[in-house]
Amino acid sequence: MRHKIVAGNWKMHKNAEDTEDLLNDLIDKLPNDKDVEIIVAPTFVNLSSAVNHLEFTNIQVAAQNMHQAESGAFTGEISADMLKSIGVNTVILGHSERRAIFHETDSIISFKVDAALKHDLRVIFCFGEELKDRQNNQHFNVVENQLKDGLFQIDKSDWENIVLAYEPVWAIGTGETASPEQAQEMHEFIRETVRKAFGSDIAENVSILYGGSVKPDNAKEIFGKPDVDGGLIGGAALKADDFAAIANAI
Ligand code: G3P
Repeated sequence: MRHKIVAGNWKMHKNAEDTEDLLNDLIDKLPNDKDVEIIVAPTFVNLSSAVNHLEFTNIQVAAQNMHQAESGAFTGEISADMLKSIGVNTVILGHSERRAIFHETDSIISFKVDAALKHDLRVIFCFGEELKDRQNNQHFNVVENQLKDGLFQIDKSDWENIVLAYEPVWAIGTGETASPEQAQEMHEFIRETVRKAFGSDIAENVSILYGGSVKPDNAKEIFGKPDVDGGLIGGAALKADDFAAIANAI
């Protein structure tokens, strides 16, 4: 069953007090009568308090990253087991900022995916082309390779814990949203790529989110496309009214 999902990636924003304020605002404003799963991804230091704060709501909590090792001398990192131990059940992996700024390769991301699945974490797997790739008409090749090199090592049974998030890098934080047609074209290609590798059942049931400058005024048209199953939201997730408006657009 394909789920409609709206997830907010807070990135490196909101201290403990601001996190509590935003969560209280979201509890008041987010819909709880729609067939849409809502996820928020605060920073590591606020995950535990967010899980506790949202315990009796329909809002899920995700981490923005994790390390692939079980434990060890990895200063500053956190493991899948640590996330599970505080009640976090979803993790964003492969975000373009992890790839570009922190030099995470497809191989590293594949190890993180494996470690997350081993601990029964749901993975929001991020991928997407850069502007130069699209300008050179290489965007389909880039996306296919990111999927194959970062995710397609998993077993068929793992797909129930996978959410795909296509985020064209040129649309992230730029206000340059992909057109609904561009989003649908790529989502259709992604679903077909999954179908060829894992079969129709998995392809039809995997949620594919779009991310990249989703705002209240463009969400409805993008989410209305047949292969767009929701969004992964950055800047607009930090404002309760905007994030609620986007969730209501599903
Ligand atoms: O992970 C979602 C994020 O990369 C999108 O950011 O600000 O373009 O919605 P934004």
